[in-house]
Amino acid sequence: MINAIGIPSKGVAHFVEKIIPLYAALSTPLVISISAPTADGFACLARDLSLPGVAAIEANISCPNIEEDGKAFAMNADSTAAVTRALRAATDLPLWIKLTPNTGDMPAVARAGKPRERMRWSSPTRFCRWRSISRRSNPASAMSWGLSGPAVKPIVLRHVFQCANAVDIPIIGCGGISSADDVVEYMLAGARAVQVGTATFLQPNIMPRIIEDLQAFCYHRQINRVSDLTGALLIEEADESDLSWLDPQ
Ligand SMILES: Cc1cc2nc3c(=O)[nH]c(=O)nc-3n(C[C@H](O)[C@H](O)[C@H](O)COP(=O)(O)O)c2cc1C
Repeated sequence: MINAIGIPSKGVAHFVEKIIPLYAALSTPLVISISAPTADGFACLARDLSLPGVAAIEANISCPNIEEDGKAFAMNADSTAAVTRALRAATDLPLWIKLTPNTGDMPAVARAGKPRERMRWSSPTRFCRWRSISRRSNPASAMSWGLSGPAVKPIVLRHVFQCANAVDIPIIGCGGISSADDVVEYMLAGARAVQVGTATFLQPNIMPRIIEDLQAFCYHRQINRVSDLTGALLIEEADESDLSWLDPQ
């Protein structure tokens, strides 16, 4: 799928007053996704949205950075480090840093998304999105669109594998997932969790189906916990003689 929707919204005040309370009342943890054109903008949003009932903040740094000619923050390690530092100083909530596959050096960007030891880092860096806040529709989006769905899966899967080998922080895989097999591939490559987007446009009930199929996958292979799949193919842990458990009994 190609999209360029820009997602206009009624702004932060409306979101805080009218939208957050609706979602905070539900039993599932609420993760708020933010996007801004500058590092300061990210920090302001993170600070303003660190509210009771919010479980985590996701920063979508695959959006254009106007301080760097409109390149996505996550396209290089320095701007990733700068925005991550600003975010970490702005909120005590767990932070999810959403990267982009459009970089030439994913391991370096992933490392840059992990603050230095002297900084307080109470949370993992991950890929994910839940609720979006965009301040206004961006006309440039008509010339700079997002590609998603099965076409991106092989690329993102490789990035997840590279990141999982480069950093020791949990990763959420996101890109082209439309079945339990896709989830298994992402988890074997090192993802701790996954996100499903485009597939829900085709099959709105795909999430419970994936969960059921994943349970069946694990059951038939006597895998006690889905989390046992995570990282089974990572370089330091790979042991080909152990992979027979992937075949159904
Ligand atoms: C219509 C549409 C709107 C999207 N809007 C956002 C957004 O506002 N913020 C964000 O971080 N990602 C956004 N994305 C990207 C998705 O969250 C996801 O990262 C991407 O689509 C890859 O996953 P998928 O192949 O499962 O869709 C959007 C994707 C689509 C298709």
